[in-house]
Amino acid sequence: MENNRQNAADIEREIPVSEPERQYYFIERARNDLKKMEEAAGRQLSFCVTTFGCQMNARDSEKLVGILEQIGYIEEPEEEKADLVIYNTCTVRENANQRVYGRLGQLGRIKKKNPHMMIALCGCMMQEPEVVEKLKKSYRFIDLIFGTHNIYKFAELLATRMESGHMVIDIWKDTDKIVEDLPSERKYSFKSGVNIMFGCNNFCSYCIVPYVRGRERSRDPRAVIREIERLVADGVTEVMLLGQNVNSYGKTLDKPMTFAQLLREIEKIEGLERIRFMTSHPKDLSDELIEVMGQSEKICKHLHLPVQSGSTRILEKMNRRYTKEHYLELVRKIRKAVPDISLTTDIIVGFPGETEEDFQETLDVVRQVQYDSAFTFIYSKRTGTPAAAMADQVPEDVVKNRFNRLLAEVQEISVKKCSVYEGSVQTVLVETKNEHDDSFMTGRMSNNLLVHFPGDESLTGKYVDVSLDECRGFYYIGKIVKG
Ligand code: 5AD
Ligand code: SF4
Repeated sequence: MENNRQNAADIEREIPVSEPERQYYFIERARNDLKKMEEAAGRQLSFCVTTFGCQMNARDSEKLVGILEQIGYIEEPEEEKADLVIYNTCTVRENANQRVYGRLGQLGRIKKKNPHMMIALCGCMMQEPEVVEKLKKSYRFIDLIFGTHNIYKFAELLATRMESGHMVIDIWKDTDKIVEDLPSERKYSFKSGVNIMFGCNNFCSYCIVPYVRGRERSRDPRAVIREIERLVADGVTEVMLLGQNVNSYGKTLDKPMTFAQLLREIEKIEGLERIRFMTSHPKDLSDELIEVMGQSEKICKHLHLPVQSGSTRILEKMNRRYTKEHYLELVRKIRKAVPDISLTTDIIVGFPGETEEDFQETLDVVRQVQYDSAFTFIYSKRTGTPAAAMADQVPEDVVKNRFNRLLAEVQEISVKKCSVYEGSVQTVLVETKNEHDDSFMTGRMSNNLLVHFPGDESLTGKYVDVSLDECRGFYYIGKIVKG
């Protein structure tokens, strides 16, 4: 963890106006507040952060944990036992919202029994005004609500809540600000997500993300490189570069640069072994990027390239700005440059106006591309997006039927694709102890496939060569052939 903390006496001074100094000041203040709360409780107080949604949110949660640990809270893995529970929410589909409301009801009952308990909500769902209205009205027991744009202000907001005793709500509509150098705690010692950009300017007609994550902003490449260099010095060998649309990285910088150029710079960092990135938009995937991927020693052999639909007519209504043919051509170029690359995708079924013929086009793309895996989603109507107002919403039973047919196709192909490596030896980065069997460890191949093999925790974070003895559908059972 980065450590440029002020010391406790410093909170007597004027509140700094510039960031990140201001937040380090509030970390100290919250530290004092927490001490008083702990004296009153007669014990140490704990926190639990629960993350919904994507890798972006997971990375944001690490920032929250970093701040909480500096404030002096201890981590409690079980939500019901924690004194500060934070939900970092997602709103990409309606069912994500429903899950949050359901769990909040439960938390409210637990809070009645724990007088020291606080509940905080943040993330994408909080950027929707109707959500915050509903929470204010029907979930009065919530202590703190903030959004995606001011997450860096967490220490300040928490201190305000601790000192005022009232519900604190702070949501910004948008921001052009990026605050660097705040504390952050990593879930894994050997790999880390690294934000390279925030927000999204694409406005796919079904998607709520541009409304809740705001306009696209790229981080300064020097800040990205500096962060990765520090991570590497701290034992990290694999990074996942994060952005809603990494392929348009750098366009908004004072000195514009491309994502491919950024990758070339990152590649030079000594000690860094693996580079991943997410998510790529097909319309912005350049020949330059394909060339860099073909030449790179470090970029992993995996590309997540959401297609969303195989029908050019639907793609147009989705505002995706590519055609079926353009997408298939991209896939051909990528496979030519990186023959053993693993391709994964996202597909939405039941977009307004989708006919059986449109759906057949999607199945056709799935069969032609032969995805290593695909995330399939039932279209979810998001209030405020253009698609929500479109006529011809597809009936639920038709969508379910298409969804099941798509899933069957996707899974059959995945199993076939996964099995092609059987009998070969691959290098994996050892990540965790196996969930089901303590004597096994789990490692990840460059192409993102998982392998379970006998081993112990001393291997965590190491690269080992594993023979892929048996394919079990979507993963392998193997054994180490060389440490
Ligand atoms: N309904 C269903 N799926 C959606 N996604 C985004 N918005 C919606 C929606 N309204 C899916 C897309 C995206 C993934 C993260 O979530 O496939 O790539
Ligand atoms: Fe969910 Fe999208 Fe927000 Fe990620 S960016 S948490 S997927 S709404």
